[in-house]
Amino acid sequence: MEPLVGKTIAVLGYGNQGRAHALNLRDSGLRVVVGGRAGSQKVELASREGFEAMELSAAAMLADLAIIALPDQAQPTAWAKWIEDALPTGAVVGFVHGFAIRFGFITPRADLGVVLVAPKGPGATVRARYEEGLGIPALFAVERENAAGCARAMAIAWGAGIGCARSGLIEASFAAEAESDLFGEQAVLCGGLMALVHESFALLVEAGYSPEVAYIECCHEVKQVADLVYARGPEGMRRAISDTAEFGAFVAENALVDEHLRAKLRALLTDVRSGAFAERFMRDHDAGHPEFRAWRKASSGHPIEAASATVRGLMPWLRDA
Ligand SMILES: NC(=O)c1ccc[n+]([C@@H]2O[C@H](COP(=O)([O-])OP(=O)(O)OC[C@H]3O[C@@H](n4cnc5c(N)ncnc54)[C@H](OP(=O)(O)O)[C@@H]3O)[C@@H](O)[C@H]2O)c1
Repeated sequence: MEPLVGKTIAVLGYGNQGRAHALNLRDSGLRVVVGGRAGSQKVELASREGFEAMELSAAAMLADLAIIALPDQAQPTAWAKWIEDALPTGAVVGFVHGFAIRFGFITPRADLGVVLVAPKGPGATVRARYEEGLGIPALFAVERENAAGCARAMAIAWGAGIGCARSGLIEASFAAEAESDLFGEQAVLCGGLMALVHESFALLVEAGYSPEVAYIECCHEVKQVADLVYARGPEGMRRAISDTAEFGAFVAENALVDEHLRAKLRALLTDVRSGAFAERFMRDHDAGHPEFRAWRKASSGHPIEAASATVRGLMPWLRDA
């Protein structure tokens, strides 16, 4: 962490990632200030949690390293209005996801160093693992060195300060991080997983099983299996389940995977890499998110939500999760 000792880190945004980065870096003994837009409740929270918290431009002006922890769709406007002109000459700007740089929504001033530290998990996990003395892996990347030539060292120090170096800092590029992250969350982690969960839940309910049983089988138990894959890898997971489950898994995987599935996965990756997905997301944002809001409304009314509330209600320890 030496390259950041005695420097000021401005964490711009105090949401999922920003709060975790700010708390971990401070607990690692580094100087952190927090910035947010005028009237931000998150800035008030940062202030209550003991940070010097201020508006974005005021925080950016103090930065040796400015960490952009704002929503991807909000970054281009915030950058142009409050951040870019306020950053000191030769400062380093750090991103948590490569989206804005990879897809050309932000082009930083030539004197700035440009780096990335992207933890491979949610902000809450970045904080929780750090507090346990552990860390989650992160990708890091250097798009451009600053004049002093310290951008790369600062990125590695930042990854160490948030605890990610305790598990692994893996060098990548902005493009590799942005593209693989978007594809992974769409194809598997958030999109693909929920497509299987929703479709399988609906099928079981239609076939006459109770929504709670369908929920437990198709959604609740995902965690148990995911924990095994996480800790032991796919083969280790298979060793921990019954032969019946393992045999059935091979039957199902072979039945589900065909040329149609491969073509659909390829299409997702093509749209990520061509920038078509990024353009679609930003166009929807600029129009007030009509597509996004319609999907959110339709999803929140899905029958799986009622079953989920009932099942989670049985477990008091999940109520505040
Ligand atoms: N979610 C995750 O755990 C996760 C995981 C890996 C990478 N990332 C990346 O981390 C970055 C931040 O994502 P996040 O999920 O942490 O963001 P977030 O929680 O949605 O929001 C972060 C902050 O931005 C502020 N904000 C919201 N809209 C704004 C606007 N229009 N202008 C200025 N400030 C605004 C919010 O405060 P106020 O609303 O109070 O102003 C909040 O402090 C993104 O690049 C994302 O891709 C996130």
